[in-house]
Amino acid sequence: MSEDEEDPSSGRYVVVKALEDGVIVMGLTRGKDTRSHHSERLDKGEVIVAQFTELTAAIKIRGRAEVLTDVGRVEAGS
Ligand code: TRP
Repeated sequence: MSEDEEDPSSGRYVVVKALEDGVIVMGLTRGKDTRSHHSERLDKGEVIVAQFTELTAAIKIRGRAEVLTDVGRVEAGS
């Protein structure tokens, strides 16, 4: 497949590391309707490596976490 959008496994990655217990990572749907389609709870030190896909256009993070993407590093919740 040539287009990223056609192959969900070719999406860019985001890494989220929880800096406290109970960090919530939510996947938000692509398209006109923005809703949370999945949420994952991380405890301190836990890491999730996730992809942006045809279904997931954005990720929302609640709590203190280190976030790495190809546009850089940001700390959420600080
Ligand atoms: N449904 C929105 C879209 O596909 C999802 C989205 C993209 C979004 N970027 C966002 C939601 C930034 C909140 C903030 O465009």
